[in-house]
Amino acid sequence: MKDMRYFVKKSILCTLATITLISLTKCLHSYFPIPFCPSFLSTSLLLLLTVRLYYLFKSTIFKHSTTLPPGPFSIPIFGNWLQVGNDLNHRLLATMSQKYGPIFLLKLGSKNLVVVSDPEIANQVLHTQGVEFGSRPRNVVFDIFTGNGQDMVFTIYGDHWRKMRRIMTLPFFTNKVVHHYSDMWEEEMDLVVGDLRTNESARINGNGIVIRKRLQLMLYNIMYRMMFDAKFQSQEDPLFIEATKFNSERSRLAQSFEYNYGDFIPLLRPFLKGYLNKCRDLQSRRLAFFNNNYVQKRREIIASNGENHNISCAIDHIIDAEMKGEISEENVIYIVENINVAAIETTLWSMEWAIAELVNHPTVQNKIREEISTVLNDQPVTESNLHELPYLQATVKETLRLHSPIPLLVPHMNLKEEKLGGYTIPKESKVVVNAWWLANNPSWWKNPEEFRPERFLEEECGTDAVAGGKADFRYLPFGVGRRSCPGIVLALPILGLVIAKLVSNFEMKAPLGMEKVDVSEKGGQFSLHIATHSTVVFDQITA
Ligand code: HEM
Repeated sequence: MKDMRYFVKKSILCTLATITLISLTKCLHSYFPIPFCPSFLSTSLLLLLTVRLYYLFKSTIFKHSTTLPPGPFSIPIFGNWLQVGNDLNHRLLATMSQKYGPIFLLKLGSKNLVVVSDPEIANQVLHTQGVEFGSRPRNVVFDIFTGNGQDMVFTIYGDHWRKMRRIMTLPFFTNKVVHHYSDMWEEEMDLVVGDLRTNESARINGNGIVIRKRLQLMLYNIMYRMMFDAKFQSQEDPLFIEATKFNSERSRLAQSFEYNYGDFIPLLRPFLKGYLNKCRDLQSRRLAFFNNNYVQKRREIIASNGENHNISCAIDHIIDAEMKGEISEENVIYIVENINVAAIETTLWSMEWAIAELVNHPTVQNKIREEISTVLNDQPVTESNLHELPYLQATVKETLRLHSPIPLLVPHMNLKEEKLGGYTIPKESKVVVNAWWLANNPSWWKNPEEFRPERFLEEECGTDAVAGGKADFRYLPFGVGRRSCPGIVLALPILGLVIAKLVSNFEMKAPLGMEKVDVSEKGGQFSLHIATHSTVVFDQITA
């Protein structure tokens, strides 16, 4: 109503001003025969009035429907980029949300970044408007690493994504897969325990070891055995060295802030040529590595078995889908690329965080041991009895709450202009949900900076790590909804089992002379990992 009154008032003023101008012109023309046509002038002024009224009408009556989310004042070409810088990490964005609100907009050159820091609006992005915000933004570097969206993780929401997700689900993301492979996972974990037992430097009198390296081999073996029925012999295995080098270089190039200028400001893109060539060169050598050493070998095995080939690993299923014409040869290789990126590093980072926090909280280690001993009567922990160990599960949850490996989730994007939280979101905006802040905001969590698994058995006992169904939108380590992490079914039991096995066999401690290990963090475009890989002493527990 107020808007309507404002509009009518402005319209009357505009009309009066125009009529006055037209009369004045006519009057002047009768006194001074100046060489212009008054009727032409009147028409022009009327036209101007109409245009003015149109915009006035649009900006008052539809004012709310075109309101962009709040955000800092932006300047042409650069937007807010020069003010906010490159490293828009979860902590900086959390601080900005306190100033600009639960949904705010940053202009990064030609691109819009919408930041969501409120559980209700997160629910809208991921669930109620999950289709509208279900795409992924493109960028110059990811276009190279995903073959312009031929993969699943970074492709837009649509038929291609649906098909890829369906094809990947059967061999990777079901409970049947978990039951089928859990013995193999345990076998790989027991090898780690065995190695730690015999490793002199890992013991109390030694200086401890950087545990990441051994866990990395374990996780590669878990995922490569599931994918290709293949494993690496040791950390010195040349194929292992090559695979880890390719993947870490890919992560470094994709996660770096170095290429932002060319991504944000298209005019500057020619200066990125060298960087993009480096990405292209790495990607072609990396995909050839996966293809020549693994995919091609499975193709040969399938071909030699003829019509009735047995499907014995995930990639056989994927090749089968290709043979049925459902996906292309390129899609097959991009599935391998996605698993290398999405599955291994995220789970490895979570393990490193969990171990570091356990080293710094020996009481939590004791409680896990006590739980295993009382609930399972010292029987070994297996995938099938993990559900009987709530304290262990709470430890996994607390690790993922305090140190989400993907604190802003993988960015979402709306293909068309949409409404969100009462604001208009321009089409193709990058929309990030600050999942870390949702899980660490003191307004919603008691002493969120504390590592305290007990919270998930006490005041937060109803909060679970889920990727669908009834979600608590303050706790989203795997996202929720259509683009949520399908790997949750593997990641949670793998994390639970590793922690259980390490804690049952060892007291994990900081190296001699140190109280605690450093848990400061380091992030990239959307990853968060421990800044210094922990050196840990594994003091064997004797029965
Ligand atoms: C602790 C370990 C892990 C964490 C914290 C994690 C977290 C996430 C997150 C936050 C997303 C994005 C959700 C969104 O955009 O809304 C995601 C996507 C994804 N994750 Fe995970 N993940 C983990 C392990 C895994 C594993 C083990 C696999 C596979 C074996 C996997 C496969 C994927 C895939 C394929 C996607 C893309 C889904 C899509 O775009 O449709 N993740 N993950």
